[in-house]
Amino acid sequence: MPKKILITGGAGFIGSHVVRRFVSNYPNYEIVNLDKLTYAGNLANLSDIEDRPNYRFVKLDITEAAAMNELFRTENFDGVIHLAAESHVDRSITDPTAFVMTNVIGTVNLLNAAREHWKGSYEEKRFYHVSTDEVYGALGETGMFTESTAYDPHSPYSASKASSDHFVRAYHDTYGLDVVISNCSNNYGSHHFPEKLIPLAINNIKNSKPVPVYGRGENVRDWLWVEDHARAIDVIYHQAASGQTYNIGGHNEWKNIDLINLLCRIMDKKLEREPGTSAKLITFVTDRAGHDLRYAIDSAKLQKELDWVPSLQFEEGLEKTVDWYLENEDWLNNVTSGNYQAYYENQYQNR
Ligand code: NAD
Ligand code: TYD
Repeated sequence: MPKKILITGGAGFIGSHVVRRFVSNYPNYEIVNLDKLTYAGNLANLSDIEDRPNYRFVKLDITEAAAMNELFRTENFDGVIHLAAESHVDRSITDPTAFVMTNVIGTVNLLNAAREHWKGSYEEKRFYHVSTDEVYGALGETGMFTESTAYDPHSPYSASKASSDHFVRAYHDTYGLDVVISNCSNNYGSHHFPEKLIPLAINNIKNSKPVPVYGRGENVRDWLWVEDHARAIDVIYHQAASGQTYNIGGHNEWKNIDLINLLCRIMDKKLEREPGTSAKLITFVTDRAGHDLRYAIDSAKLQKELDWVPSLQFEEGLEKTVDWYLENEDWLNNVTSGNYQAYYENQYQNR
């Protein structure tokens, strides 16, 4: 029998890279991609693999418990890789409830469906929760998050992800469910929705629009190439012991302003503009409320135990990312078009 794996949130940024990797690398698996297709979900992200015989898409909402139970009853999954989430910190500040609904209630619905359907027989079954380093809170000038750093979330987004991590662990400790969790730093790469810093800046520079930098741009993020994250998920899904947590990160810390300046230089080169043209678009704006100063991940456990290391230098990865956005104008125009914006804003407000 081929292994049947449910990947949730597969039409989003990271999820689409995970789906592509599993569909391509494991032709003997059956991959079911479950996604609600919110403003952030886009089936065009998977157009290159949508006809593969080992891939299927189902449009469902993880906040609907009955639908999750019915899906697990009919499909008989061997494993779940759960990425579906509301993922943008700024949106969580304006509408925290949407984050509780999808990230907390949705995760509990999936845990209940898995527990109910697998009925205590967890051999060869696995529930993998894809989480974030933001659950650990903020660092000062020094130090790194390890797997034993205490949870201290500050934004509604990170509070909802911390809560869902706790539920996943509770289902392991209480019911014996086979679970694994990974907490990853900021990702970058292709198919990233242009509300997050890097794709937003690329799109704005391309269109000669202001590039908003919160505060003075002093905040630090640890950036990881999205395909390295997908590879880490693959390794952890297949090799981690039940109940384990792994931090995933690139050892690649950048102050926002330094990153944006690097991006401006790359954009000047790619767009054949005078050096310094793009940097003139940098605009310092009001800081984000509760803005975490610094994130940095210690991924030594993953490197030592499962032999995973990041593959790309940041400058190379950033150039590849810029190339992708410049070569995929249709994708970018589609997700930033008036119609698409109106559609997702309306959907977002009505949730
Ligand atoms: P994304 O916003 O690009 O994609 C989220 C996907 O989930 C979308 O396809 C969306 O349609 C789907 N979705 C949202 N609500 C849903 C619902 N109620 N039911 C079903 N599907 C729903 O997010 P991303 O950046 O790809 O992040 C994926 C996961 O990885 C999230 O769990 C996030 O917390 C985690 N993560 C992200 C980062 C990052 O840098 N982006 C870093 C670490 C961890
Ligand atoms: P973001 O991409 O939203 O990821 P996260 O908040 O999950 O880290 O933001 C990355 C950093 O960039 C964060 O410090 C906030 C900052 N930022 C800006 O300065 N300007 C922007 O327009 C955005 C979206 C983010």
